[in-house]
Amino acid sequence: MSSLGSADRPLRVAIVGSGPSGFYAAEALLKSNLSVQVDMFDRLPTPFGLVRGGVSPDHPKIKSVTKVYDKIAQHERFSFLGNVTIGKDIKLEELREYYDAILFATGAETDNRLNIPGEDLPGSHTATEFVGWYNSHPDYRDRVFDLSQEVAVIIGQGNVAMDVSRILAKTSDELRGTDIAQHALDALAESKVREIHLIGRRGPVQAKCTTPELRELGELAECDVIVRPEDLELDHTSKAELDYADNVTAQKNMAELRAFAERTAAGKRRRYFMHFLRSPIALHGALRVESISLELNTLQGKPFTTRAVGTGAIEELACGLVFRSVGYRGVPIPSVPFDHTRGVIPHEAGRVTNAGVAVQGLYVTGWIKRGPSGVIGTNKPDSHETVGSLLSDAPDLSPCAIPDSDALHGLLAQRGVRVVSFADWRRIDAAEIARGAVNGKPREKFTRIDEMLNAL
Ligand SMILES: Cc1cc2nc3c(=O)[nH]c(=O)nc-3n(C[C@H](O)[C@H](O)[C@H](O)COP(=O)(O)OP(=O)(O)OC[C@H]3O[C@@H](n4cnc5c(N)ncnc54)[C@H](O)[C@@H]3O)c2cc1C
Ligand SMILES: NC(=O)c1ccc[n+]([C@@H]2O[C@H](COP(=O)([O-])OP(=O)(O)OC[C@H]3O[C@@H](n4cnc5c(N)ncnc54)[C@H](OP(=O)(O)O)[C@@H]3O)[C@@H](O)[C@H]2O)c1
Repeated sequence: MSSLGSADRPLRVAIVGSGPSGFYAAEALLKSNLSVQVDMFDRLPTPFGLVRGGVSPDHPKIKSVTKVYDKIAQHERFSFLGNVTIGKDIKLEELREYYDAILFATGAETDNRLNIPGEDLPGSHTATEFVGWYNSHPDYRDRVFDLSQEVAVIIGQGNVAMDVSRILAKTSDELRGTDIAQHALDALAESKVREIHLIGRRGPVQAKCTTPELRELGELAECDVIVRPEDLELDHTSKAELDYADNVTAQKNMAELRAFAERTAAGKRRRYFMHFLRSPIALHGALRVESISLELNTLQGKPFTTRAVGTGAIEELACGLVFRSVGYRGVPIPSVPFDHTRGVIPHEAGRVTNAGVAVQGLYVTGWIKRGPSGVIGTNKPDSHETVGSLLSDAPDLSPCAIPDSDALHGLLAQRGVRVVSFADWRRIDAAEIARGAVNGKPREKFTRIDEMLNAL
């Protein structure tokens, strides 16, 4: 029998997930010395994961990375099988029949919880829901956000919190020419939000957002940014962190924040307040969110490992909307090992492990491997590590029983699954671009899976 990875018998790899990590893994496999057939699955009919459903509509340049993925998808040994949920439409055990190796690149599709009273009151939402809603993700199409409220609070000070901040603070004119979902643009046009409060549990030096995102806040047409100078007074540990030569992001962030603190408010329609060293401890309201209790914190621990510790002092802030932007979490797939504490698939150098032992033929990359951190580019070296492990294991992998993608397509068709190919996706893509052109937008995404399939 021909060896796996030969021209006669290409190594068959299923990649589950078509976000950045999935595409970088595909690229590395297809560029390797072995002959590899890559079949990439996604539960949505559309590829590109968070590049489509997460990256902010007002950051169009970042989305142009999909051109790189388009090129990878043109490879003769690459196929896209969209609209197929692994673990639901086909089980892991079944998938193993068709592939020598399976590589999970499923991202982190749910969120961390605050675990505080009132967290689930109406008016309290996760950033995931809001981001999915304005980015036309079909899971979040029908979410409703009560934008008749005047005061919104955002918990967390990472870049997702910055995205949510801009979308809430921008005017319709600032958003109109983007690919923001039309239903979101219409709702935001009627927004009565006047005050936005960003709440960081640690100090300004520890803020995880990056400087360009902070700077953008200072350039909003109709929103003043307000930072109190006393909130930028640093404790001993924060000063030590800031003095560390390599801590360039914090140094640049502090320069931006100090410039904000020196500004005089211009009397714009909206005001954006940045608060530090405060943790939410409860949300209150009879029928919906009416206020939030914040506990003032101090920092404990050595530089770069500080923790926020409550002082017992409490502040109340009246608000009608809360967005929790405190990080994402992976979702388990049936029969795939899962670390429920960290919300990731456990691994060693990208080899999926169960109780510390590598599981033959299973691999993992991206956010579901290392957790929800890092920009698009961070996924490239991560996927290279995983593919390196997979390729070095190739001689010892058990060949699958049915090395035939057509047979798998037959099985999915029998189950009534309409598999969306990359050529199909291009037709959806063209239809979205045409819909957008009517309103001067780069695209108007379909927001429901039925609409996407109907476009075919
Ligand atoms: C709101 C937001 C904005 C961001 N903005 C930026 C930015 O501006 N710039 C930047 O560099 N980085 C940004 N990032 C980070 C970047 O998006 C991530 O680093 C990157 O998307 C992670 O890639 P991934 O492939 O691991 O996961 P994802 O991109 O999440 O892709 C996972 C894919 O797996 C699919 N999937 C999940 N489960 C299954 C299943 N069971 N069966 C089949 N398919 C499945 C999903 O549908 C999805 O397409 C942002 C992140 C977020 C959350
Ligand atoms: N433009 C871009 O490049 C862009 C845009 C969006 C996202 N991304 C990337 O995507 C990744 C995910 O972003 P993210 O913003 O979701 O995550 P993040 O950067 O990890 O930020 C999460 C924030 O939530 C806070 N937090 C966590 N648990 C909390 C709790 N219990 N109470 C209060 N605050 C809490 C964190 O504070 P602590 O620091 O104290 O933990 C932090 O401020 C990041 O790597 C980000 O850079 C990039």
